[in-house]
Amino acid sequence: MKKLFIKTYGCQMNVYDSARMAELLAPIGYGAADTTSDADLIILNTCHIREKAAEKIYSELGRLKQLKEDTGAMIAVAGCVAQAEGDEIIARAPQVDIVVGPQSYHRLPELIARISRAGGHALDTNFPMLEKFDALPKGDSPSGAAAFLTAQEGCDKFCTFCVVPYTRGSEYSRSVLQIEDEARRLVARGARELTLLGQNVNAYRGLGPDGETWSLARLLYRLAEISGLARLRYTTSHPRDMSDELIAAHGDLSQLMPNLHLPVQSGSDGVLAAMNRGHTVADYRRIVDRVRRARPDIALSSDFIVGFPGETDQDFAQTMALVRDVGFSQSYSFKYSKRPGTPAAAARKQVAEPVKDARLQELQALLLAQRNEFDQSCAGRVMDVLFERPGRKKGQAIGRTPYLQSVHAENAAPFIGDIHRVRIDAVFPNSLKVSLVAAGEKVLAH
Ligand code: 5AD
Ligand code: SF4
Repeated sequence: MKKLFIKTYGCQMNVYDSARMAELLAPIGYGAADTTSDADLIILNTCHIREKAAEKIYSELGRLKQLKEDTGAMIAVAGCVAQAEGDEIIARAPQVDIVVGPQSYHRLPELIARISRAGGHALDTNFPMLEKFDALPKGDSPSGAAAFLTAQEGCDKFCTFCVVPYTRGSEYSRSVLQIEDEARRLVARGARELTLLGQNVNAYRGLGPDGETWSLARLLYRLAEISGLARLRYTTSHPRDMSDELIAAHGDLSQLMPNLHLPVQSGSDGVLAAMNRGHTVADYRRIVDRVRRARPDIALSSDFIVGFPGETDQDFAQTMALVRDVGFSQSYSFKYSKRPGTPAAAARKQVAEPVKDARLQELQALLLAQRNEFDQSCAGRVMDVLFERPGRKKGQAIGRTPYLQSVHAENAAPFIGDIHRVRIDAVFPNSLKVSLVAAGEKVLAH
């Protein structure tokens, strides 16, 4: 048997893609390697969303060069850096055998066979989206209790800072039946929770079994009927696509977890317009109000960019004000970084690095305080947790609350794979300590 090592960078979509690549290569004889040194094939599944991504990959490839000389392993670069850099990768790092973009990795077996037969290099950065999903294996290995499922890929929104429309291509939604089939299989293999993935998942417009175009909300109602599927989530969403129907689903569907990742990026209308976000700050506030009316306990998270070209102190103060008003349970925040080929990279008024640093620090301090406050508000509460995997300590189990907080419980290993009622005993910076409670105790959130 040959051995495969996949190193995954970036978003959950890449995690999903890496799992599909492993499934795709299993039938041609590849099993998992523990380290790069015992691998016959090493795949770097890369991310290009922010600066230094490509440089990080090149330095990793530098390290792998020696290894390849020692072990003869085949090296493949997949994902968004592969898409963006293309044959530049092979020019700069000739130790790379295969470069494969996120929409063509289903062709890996063919590319591997070609290289093994004829040597040389192989490059495939086409966008045959339909073909990809049809070509991926259906999968029959056990699933984790919390599984990902790609519903939608790509993006047509062209925010001026973002490479996704270039690396992942234009919006594409898989059909309802294809998604439902994969969901049922995952549940049959042990999944209790599914997170529907998409760069713009709430823009989902897939072919329904009735021949009509279905929305994400309709898809969620359908998936909620799958017995054994206890939890549904979806990420990432765009404020522009937060429809009434989807908001209503948060009130209707008990399976839809009370957590929504809804990136706003900035609290300034001027910056949002320059980012080509297609919504205002008032639009975002209105959406938040409506979502909270539908599901009062919903925990909101967001992405923020500080130091976007032209961002003034006043613009940044408006971002801080928005954060203060909304209150987020958890967020990601980044300094703006120039992405080659995107409109904002060419903007004249770039913000100085020290200014970006200071703003990021200030924003992150506020976001962290909000996160701590949210976690603290959960202390002593009873909720249902899905235990997903063993912890570092013997007998420990790691899981998630409905609000996506990470939890750990001692002596709980037998509970992995299912949902159990717990009490939050203590709040730590990155995890909540919980203990199991007897059935029948009052649930404050499920
Ligand atoms: N610079 C900084 N952050 C970025 N993001 C996307 N592109 C950039 C960029 N050029 C952030 C956005 C997005 C998240 C996934 O990454 O906040 O929502
Ligand atoms: Fe990038 Fe904007 Fe599309 Fe999100 S909506 S993937 S930030 S272009």
